[in-house]
Formats: sequence, structure tokens, C-alpha cells
Amino acid sequence: MQGTTGPDWSARHRRLASTLKARSLDALVVSTRANVRYLCGFGGSSGLLVAAPDRRWLLVDGRYAQEAREELASRAVPGTDIERIDEATADALSAIVARIGLRRVGFEARDVTVATIESWREGAPSVEWIRTDGAIEEQRAVKDAFEQAVFRRAGSKLSDVARILCSLVKIQSSEIEVARAIDRALESAGFSGPAFPTIVASGPNSARPHARPTDRRLAAGDLVVLDFGGVLDGYCVDLSRTASVGNPSSEARRLYETVREAQSAALAAIRPGESGAAVDAAARGVLARAGLAETFLHATGHGLGLEVHEAPRLGRASGRTAPSVLAEGMVCTVEPGAYVGGFGGVRIEDDVLVTGSGCEALTDAPRDLLVV
Ligand code: GLY
Ligand code: MN
Repeated sequence: MQGTTGPDWSARHRRLASTLKARSLDALVVSTRANVRYLCGFGGSSGLLVAAPDRRWLLVDGRYAQEAREELASRAVPGTDIERIDEATADALSAIVARIGLRRVGFEARDVTVATIESWREGAPSVEWIRTDGAIEEQRAVKDAFEQAVFRRAGSKLSDVARILCSLVKIQSSEIEVARAIDRALESAGFSGPAFPTIVASGPNSARPHARPTDRRLAAGDLVVLDFGGVLDGYCVDLSRTASVGNPSSEARRLYETVREAQSAALAAIRPGESGAAVDAAARGVLARAGLAETFLHATGHGLGLEVHEAPRLGRASGRTAPSVLAEGMVCTVEPGAYVGGFGGVRIEDDVLVTGSGCEALTDAPRDLLVV
């Protein structure tokens, strides 16, 4: 199906077929949950998809067989059979690999443990098991028309939650109470759940980028980092705003304005063909010129999709991972921050869709410092 009413399964399967061809694979055993969902719509917590160029077999146990049948039928996923397995997964896999006559089979190295691949090798010793790295993740990074439509809806709903933050963040409330209020607002907005545990970090806690909410009560003079996201139709969106309890000090104001400028610089740098490292450098440069280079403790952004952190990465080039290059259709966060130990922190995070010439804002709540 093409368009915005459902994923274009055939296009996904065609791209998978060319991935297999490029790696001379007869099939790929897809085990990463989000990748299984991407290729056949099955959302259960356990299942293996044996994906050949023109046909797929979803191996699920008795807990999921009926659900899988219904899900695939309701989503009109073409060319995918359900195989109910009643024995050990490795035995079922070796039986199907033998039945289809596969010889060179890929596995997902980031997901399959050493113990698991050894059991697959023992079960099917005549098969050449080939490591693959991020093949489907690379495919997932560029969102199709259906996914882009989901993101526009999700970004609009998340922005609605951001617009009411001032009514949820109250002096004397604990961080945990504020986080619960945000979670209730996400549910009322229509999200199926939070995309990750909501972060509410106040006062000195706000200097820790991923602090867990505590029973600390918000007090005058605090900076409060609020970071929350929702899942809509399986897709994750993610947004942060920062509040000041009472009028901000001049140092808090300076920190905030610098992070805001860093976010604007990163947003202006986004375009197809640009590297994630260059977008990160644009944000980092603003903070460095203000003497705040050491306060920016994480990457500028990450891709969003069926997982809350996925490709592309807007961060400094690292020797271990290939740098991300932006392409039209990618969706990512832009979330610079500044964290000053013992004082507090600021983060501003929005989500964008990379377009042909720049980016489209998916979240559009006001970016001013919230004063509560
Ligand atoms: N906003 C939460 C995260 O990016 O991890
Ligand atoms: Mn994020």
C-alpha cells in the first residue's frame, strides 16, 4: 500500500532484497524487535523473521501465533508466512533453513548473542552464517510517506503537551509528581505510552542530563529540565523544555539564551548531504564561543522512529561508528544542552524532518524559557 494510510510493505521488501543481493545473502534472520516490526508489522516481544528476497517466514511461539496471523492480515502484509514453533528456536530455525535450502544467511550482529549464534551454527552447520551490521536500521532511517504522516501527527500532539507545561510544573511539587502529570498529559493527548521514562530534573539535579525524577520539591530559583516523549502508532517523538521557578538569575538567563542560539544554529545547518557531525559542530561552536564548551555533555541529536534512539546520529565523529550523513526523509531530534555542576542545566529539544532543502519542524511549541 502506497501513501499515508499504511506502510508501503512492498517497497520495504524490495529494499531488503537489494540489501541481500549486495551482500550475496540468500536470506537475513531478523531478530531486532523494531526491525521485525518494520518489515512485517508484527509487534510482539519475541519472534524471528527469516527474510529472503521474495518471501518471508515469521517464527513465533504459541503465545503469539494467533496475534501474528491477525496483525499481518489486518495490515495486508504481502508474502509473509507465520510459522508457529513449539520446539527450541534454534531447532525451528535450522528446520526452516533446511526446508528452504538456504546456504548463506545473515544475522544481526548487534542483537544476536554469541551463545545464540553458536546454537544456530550447531543447528545448521552447513549454512554459512554471515554477520551484518545495521542493514535494516539504515533502511529505517529514511521515513516513507506513511511514517512522515505519523510523525507530523505525533509532533503536533507532543507540542500540545509542551504548551501546557506551565500548568503542570508547580513550585513545591516533587519531580516525581511533575513527571506523573506529564505522563497523564501524554496519555490524554492520545499517545499509547511514554517513549522513555519522563525526565524532570530540578535545581542541581538539572545539571545531570538524564537524571531520574526524585522526591525533591521544586523551589524558587531552580532551573527545571523537562524531557518527555510519546509513542504514536509505534513511532517515538521526544521533546525537552526548561523552566525557571520564579525569575531566572542572569546566569540562568545567559545559559538559556546560549543553548537556544546553539539549537537555532544546528537547525539552520540541517540539510540533505550534511553530516551529523557538522550539525553537532554548529551547536557546539555557539556554546564554545560563550565559554560553555565543557558544559555540553551529549550529542546534539539522534534519529527517531520505532525506537527513540536510532540513526542518524548528530554527534562528534567517532572512530567506532560511521558518521551519519543526512538524507531527505530522516527524522531527528535537535537537543543541545548546557549543564553546570552544582548550579543547574538547560536543554531545548525539538524534532525535525529533513526535507529536500533543509528541515521541517515537527514540534513547534514556543521555545522561550518557561517561568513558573
Ligand atoms: N530525550 C531523551 C533522550 O534523548 O534520551
Ligand atoms: Mn532526545
